[in-house]
Amino acid sequence: MNNICFVTGNYNKLNEVKSLVKNFNIISYADLNFHGVIPETEDTLEGNSFLKSKFINDKFKIDCFSDDSGLFIESLGGEPGVNSARYASSNSDSEENMNLVLKKLENKTNRNASFETCICLIINNSINYFKGSVKGIITHKKFGKRGFGYDPIFIPKGYSKTFAEMTIDKKNKISHRSIAIKKLVSYLNKLN
Ligand code: IMP
Repeated sequence: MNNICFVTGNYNKLNEVKSLVKNFNIISYADLNFHGVIPETEDTLEGNSFLKSKFINDKFKIDCFSDDSGLFIESLGGEPGVNSARYASSNSDSEENMNLVLKKLENKTNRNASFETCICLIINNSINYFKGSVKGIITHKKFGKRGFGYDPIFIPKGYSKTFAEMTIDKKNKISHRSIAIKKLVSYLNKLN
């Protein structure tokens, strides 16, 4: 079975994809003995996921894929977007990021937002993108303790609870990331 590298240091993401892909041996960049940081300097999810995949593909000559996600809020012109992890400051945590979003939305009636994921796969020297999106609204305060990032302030469309009030299984069934991963997995499972 051929190796394919998932360019991530997040073992939850890695194991999720490993359990779904049947015809490739999924490895992480730690398995390649790479422990550096890959700069994410582009201003789109596509750009950043491509940067990460290209970096590992060039350095190790291995097929690979990378993901990049963010929260896009309509009335903030798409912020925090690609800067979701570092919205409040260069080393901000999720609480600070959520507080900033809630403050900026204080007087806004349009609270529409979406979580977006883009996966960039480089395989046999060809570049493929797989995207996932989930629409929803931003709450007026935080609800729930599960999940990570902006989960306590995001209610997906058609639901009455935030991602942070749902079980991880429930969130994983409907999330932006799972939609993109399903597209990637279906593509990979058709190869070979
Ligand atoms: P990453 O590209 O998956 O590392 O996501 C970048 C940032 O977007 C995270 O640090 C979070 O702030 C935010 N984010 C991405 N996906 C989610 C999610 O499913 N729930 C909450 N926040 C998320």
